[in-house]
Amino acid sequence: MDKFVIEGGHALRGVISVSGAKNAALPVLAATLLTADEVVLERIPKVRDIRTMAKLLESVGAKVEPNNGGDGVRVAQITTPEAPYELVKTMRASSLVLGPLVARCGEARVSMPGGCAIGARPINLHLAGLEKLGAKISQEHGYVRAHAPKGLTGAVIHFDRVTVTGTEDLLMAAVLAKGETVIENAAREPEVSDLADLLTKMGAQIEGAGSSTIRVQGVTELHGATHAIIPDRIEAGTFLIAGALAGDPLTIAGVNAEHVAALTDKMRQAGVEFSFLEDDRIEVQAPEKLRAVDLATKEYPGFATDMQAQFLAMMTQAEGESEITETIFENRFMHVSELLRMGADIALEGHRATVRGRTELSGARVMASDLRASACLVIAALAAQGETVIDRVYHIDRGYERIEEKLSSVGAKIRRAQ
Ligand code: EPZ
Repeated sequence: MDKFVIEGGHALRGVISVSGAKNAALPVLAATLLTADEVVLERIPKVRDIRTMAKLLESVGAKVEPNNGGDGVRVAQITTPEAPYELVKTMRASSLVLGPLVARCGEARVSMPGGCAIGARPINLHLAGLEKLGAKISQEHGYVRAHAPKGLTGAVIHFDRVTVTGTEDLLMAAVLAKGETVIENAAREPEVSDLADLLTKMGAQIEGAGSSTIRVQGVTELHGATHAIIPDRIEAGTFLIAGALAGDPLTIAGVNAEHVAALTDKMRQAGVEFSFLEDDRIEVQAPEKLRAVDLATKEYPGFATDMQAQFLAMMTQAEGESEITETIFENRFMHVSELLRMGADIALEGHRATVRGRTELSGARVMASDLRASACLVIAALAAQGETVIDRVYHIDRGYERIEEKLSSVGAKIRRAQ
């Protein structure tokens, strides 16, 4: 299993370019199931989860091949409307094929996603929404089956709690349903808006994407389109935090500043200065001192839960006490135990971590547990004295494209080893 060997204490100087957003690419790839025409997607990040989704689409009947700089996906015919266990167990976002499969061919069988490191992560809200649209839901042998032989019918769907892929799944089901669908308490994440942009290019009629209420007029069929994925705001945020600790200065290129506003606002409260430069570049210089600030994760446009672990790593280097509250997932502090081994001073109580800084971190052998916890450990290792070895970096490869090359190009001492 690959590991990272990182020597901390080096300044980061230069420009890192952001890749396309993994969490936009996954629903957008699933949306290609909605038409028999070719859909060309640009700026798809080369990360493990995308390869898993491409395999899933091919197992359903898609042809995925390069198309002048983009990925051409054509699903001329759905051969097997099923997401098999061996793929779903490696990527829960496979549930994103539920909506498009039912909408396209009236049937979907998806292996129930097991839990994962950060929480139980059920898909009950996805299934309840599909039922509202007229699908018959049944569960057998670890699979959930959605069946709508006469097609789906528009309805009002109210989510009891905001769900990002739940909103995306139902949006993809609604675009081919008969009549109007209203999704209330919808997720407002930029990745939802990016999906809606593609669906609109394919001929869907959608209003309100990016707000809490999305209105869809169903159409009878969708056609092909070409679409460039939005930049990855979580990758950009991860590098901005690395810059706050070691930037001299570090410039992040190709980032949508609006998408990272909750993060940069919070970082500014902690004493970090930014220069917002033309053509989507943000420059960050590590300040003399960082101030501890409190944080609570929220749905977009609030502070992203996917940035909590990285921000917590930064707070170990800030003066004072920071209370970090995780409101989205029930178990998203797996990174804390590893940071304690590096010398951090953190007290955990349920959904709240209290970080006392500034503590000198020392390099150690640590283990990645999930995607964003791995990113947190890379940031901590860059700030630590001495050498850190991070095991199980396949977690980080799920959502970061060549992170060790991008960081090495700006002066970090990081290498991949067996
Ligand atoms: C998406 O996951 C992202 N993944 C996650 O990013 C991100 O952390 C999360 O949204 C929150 O922003 C993708 O977009 C592929 P949710 P998703 O449904 O859609 C509960 C990463 O690091 N819930 O918004 O699965 C759920 O348990 C990943 O890139 C239900 O109870 O998250 C959670 O507590 C990690 N029933 C909360 O809602 C449901 O049917 C929010 O989950 C669905 C969700």
